[in-house]
Formats: sequence, structure tokens, C-alpha cells
Amino acid sequence: MQNPEKNWFGEKQVEANEKTRLVRNVFDSVADKYDLMNDLMSGGIHRLWKDRLVRMIRPKPQDHHLDVAGGTGDIAFRIRKAAGSHARITVCDLDEAMLNIGRDRALDRGWLDGFDWITGNAETLPLPDECVDVYTISFGLRNVTRIDTALAEAYRVLKPGGRFYCLEFSHVEEPFLARIYDGYSYRVIPRIGQLVAKDRGSYQYLVESIRKFPSQNELTRRIKAAGFENSRYINLNFGIAAIHQGWKNFDFKGSE
Ligand SMILES: C[S@@+](CC[C@H](N)C(=O)[O-])C[C@H]1O[C@@H](n2cnc3c(N)ncnc32)[C@H](O)[C@@H]1O
Repeated sequence: MQNPEKNWFGEKQVEANEKTRLVRNVFDSVADKYDLMNDLMSGGIHRLWKDRLVRMIRPKPQDHHLDVAGGTGDIAFRIRKAAGSHARITVCDLDEAMLNIGRDRALDRGWLDGFDWITGNAETLPLPDECVDVYTISFGLRNVTRIDTALAEAYRVLKPGGRFYCLEFSHVEEPFLARIYDGYSYRVIPRIGQLVAKDRGSYQYLVESIRKFPSQNELTRRIKAAGFENSRYINLNFGIAAIHQGWKNFDFKGSE
């Protein structure tokens, strides 16, 4: 497995297990302000990106959806709204505190059935082979220690014919806009983190981790290398974020 990330935690290099532990600490620390901070930092635009992702998926009631790094449930709830009350949705996340908020939000909406909330790592999903129809990971892959291992796990748990989607911060390709965006993210986001969540460090990590994440073309190549067909992406807002997708073919991987 390639995994060329060298265990970046923001701009620091750490041991692999240490990175996973530090990431969990970040989300433990921001969980109760996570939804508010998303709206403040993006001016609500993350909602449009998530809506776009779910429009691309076109969720069906008969499909089993797995939302990895599902956190407080934003993607799962949109899937449920689109697919209806028969939808089966598994939300998996490394951090119990984020999942607890997601579970409470589901209850607030009166949604008792249809969701499984499970604690687990994207690199070693606690699920059998070929059990889900659609795999989503939204603003999660950037935090995973071994990206290629997580992609291989996505491939493993998807049924033949299943679909993979990743929504993630990406890279602004136009240099002038990239400079403006860089200024905003490095100067403003950690300050909002300090003011609202009283946690500058976690938001500094957020900004740094975006810079370390593979480019659109690089991630497209790595999704293909994990076995997916038709690996492609669309940019959102000039590449501030991107949606990557791939398809698990019906052919057995590696067969002649
Ligand atoms: C930025 S939040 C995204 C939450 C949600 N998907 C959204 O779009 O709002 C990242 C989430 O990824 C989770 N996470 C980080 N590393 C993970 C891993 N290796 N496996 C599973 N979840 C992970 C964190 O606990 C956190 O809940």
C-alpha cells in the first residue's frame, strides 16, 4: 500500500498511531461547536456542497448507505431526506463525541429507525466485505492517517456495482484566487476558532491539513489505483472543495 502521507498532522510529522490519536482529540475538542463553526467559517457554503454531493448520489430507499467519518450526521440526514424512511444508513466515525451529537440530532428530528451509529476507523472498517451500495466520506479523508488504506477499505466494503464519493477541501487552481483563499484560511479561520470554540490549535490543524491533502489529479489517480473505475471529480467554488467519485466494477478485482 502506497500511503505517501508520512503521517502529517497539520505541518508536523508524527507517528502513524499518534496522528490518529491527535485527530481524535481535535474532534473531541470541537464536537459541541462543530456545526456552528462550519457555518461561520464557510458562510454556510458547506451546506450547498453537501446538498450537491447528495444530488449526485441520488439516494435510493433500497440501498445501504455508509457514511464514513460521518460526524454529526450532515450527510446521513440529507441521504435520509432524499431516500425516505426506508433508507438504511450506517454512520461510522472515529470519535464518539461527534457521533453522540449526530445521534441526538437524529432523535431531535424524530428519526429513531434506519440509522446505525458505529465507532470505527476508515482504515479498518468494522464491516464485512461487499455489504454497502454507496460509500460517502465528507471532509473526512483529509484526516485519515493512511489514505490509500482507507480507499482500499472503501473498495472492500462496497458491493460490486457500488459507488464511492468523497467530498473534501481541495486546491484552488487559479493562482490569484488561491492567494486570497490562503490569506483567509491562514489568518481568519484559526482566529474564529479561538473566538468561538476557544480552540485555535484545532482550527490551525484544519487549515494546515487542507494544504497537505493530495491535489485533485493525484487523488483521482489514487482512487483508480484502489481499484475503482471511472474515477473523476468536480470542483466546487474554484476547487476550494471537490467531489471525487468512483465505481466498483462487477468484475472481481484482480481477476484475469
Ligand atoms: C470535519 S469532520 C466531518 C464530519 C461530517 N462528515 C461532515 O461533513 O460534516 C471529520 C470527521 O472525521 C472523523 N475522522 C477522522 N479520522 C477518521 C478516521 N480515521 N476514521 C473515521 N473517522 C475519522 C472525525 O472524528 C470527524 O468526525
